[in-house]
Amino acid sequence: MRILASEILEKVGERVELAGWVSARRDHGKLIFIDLRDRTGVVQLVFNANKQVDVYKLADTLRPEWVIRIVGEVGERPAGMINEDIETGKVEVAVEELEILAEAETPPFELSTDGYEINEELRMKYRYLDMRRGRIKKNLIARHEITDFTRRFFYDHGFTEVETPYISKSTPEGARDYLVPSRLQPGMFYALPQSPQQYKQLLMIGGLERYFQMARCFRDEDTRGDRQPEFTQIDIEMSFVEQEDVLGLIEEYLIQLSSKLYPHKKLTLENGRIPRMLYEVAMSKYGTDRPDVRKDKKDDNEFAPVFVVDFPMFEQREDKSWGAAHHPFTMPDVKDAKELKAKFKKAPLSIKGLQYDVVLNGWEIFGGSIRNHNPELLKAVFEVMGHKSKDIEERFGHLLKAFRYGVPPHGGIACGFDRLVAILQNEPNIREVIAFPKTGDGRDLMMDAPSAVDKKQLKELGLSVKKSKKNE
Ligand code: AMO
Repeated sequence: MRILASEILEKVGERVELAGWVSARRDHGKLIFIDLRDRTGVVQLVFNANKQVDVYKLADTLRPEWVIRIVGEVGERPAGMINEDIETGKVEVAVEELEILAEAETPPFELSTDGYEINEELRMKYRYLDMRRGRIKKNLIARHEITDFTRRFFYDHGFTEVETPYISKSTPEGARDYLVPSRLQPGMFYALPQSPQQYKQLLMIGGLERYFQMARCFRDEDTRGDRQPEFTQIDIEMSFVEQEDVLGLIEEYLIQLSSKLYPHKKLTLENGRIPRMLYEVAMSKYGTDRPDVRKDKKDDNEFAPVFVVDFPMFEQREDKSWGAAHHPFTMPDVKDAKELKAKFKKAPLSIKGLQYDVVLNGWEIFGGSIRNHNPELLKAVFEVMGHKSKDIEERFGHLLKAFRYGVPPHGGIACGFDRLVAILQNEPNIREVIAFPKTGDGRDLMMDAPSAVDKKQLKELGLSVKKSKKNE
């Protein structure tokens, strides 16, 4: 039975089987040393020409990244040979059997460094090699552990994880939609969800009361260090709650997450609580709604979360049109549609929305709101933003209708999970914590996506592609 590098320290004096990749090789006369890498770490193998000539000869053919299986005896290293830098540095394996499982071409870049120095496009093209490096593998494993912690936390707090559709209808979150043409309804399109916002609200009407999901979201917007066209949210919605309930839950989540998984880091709180900051204060004091409240901004070991609250409900876009600062489903601080319209006429920016963000070290990692569950008031929100009745009915009629069948007051929040993991792992951007990220211009260099499709597929979908320089 194969064992892992992480188990080797307990096996001194025993014969073990190991399998993995050749990470490094050092030749010392009649001895060849190979660092064998598996998913848990590295183990030093020794091939001795004086003991096993055949095995030694075969070992002499080994090159970096070949895949091998060995059997050998685990022994303690001589005192002067101990390597304190690696976890298994006190032991080595004297190899008796060697099997080559796969040879490998020379990788296009170094795998033993942290990789920041390598051209990122090249790393992305060979992502399957890039993730063999310790740093990326550690990030992916840490991400898995945070996911595991998150699921348990929300299960323990009475939340039900529900999957919502990926091919559906557009929900505005402020970005462009990715569209998917329908074969069975030619000329019609699904939109990939920018977030499960409407579905999670419909789940509240359905009586689920406490929903969460590790949800993939799709937004066709320019990619940046903290933005990907597809990204993951911890998506949360709760019935019969107020702003304080949602913030209290997130506070508990972040404090537990940091103390359980990152105990060596300093979580900056105020009297044991996450501090609050009014949007206006953030803007006047820090000039941004994403204030970095760390004491020492260079300190990787500090997490400084802050709740930013009391946002304006509306914002004016560059083209002078009005939109929702968070999204239109947020509850404005007015008592009814009449008051909303009157206030909007006079001073749109004076209307506050019951919405909140969590900012961590200057990154917006959560955003959410208490929802507007009054169908008349929701309609008025769309109207003041310039939507015509017909358009409102077409795009949001299903939600307005559902609201007439007994809607509980509800609210929620969503966490930009990739951002959270990147900060926890001290990474400068979210690509470092995503297994297969996209480039700045939205391409997957490894799979070569997006790519042209067959004429037959286009025909089935009733589509034709206009010729442009790009796809000629
Ligand atoms: P919002 O649009 O604020 O709210 O998104 C929530 C959080 O998701 C993260 N985020 C992103 N992360 C990576 N790449 C992106 N392109 C990207 N866009 C957003 C941010 C952000 O804080 N439905 C609402 C939530 C709610 O009201 O409950 C929503 O999606 O960290």
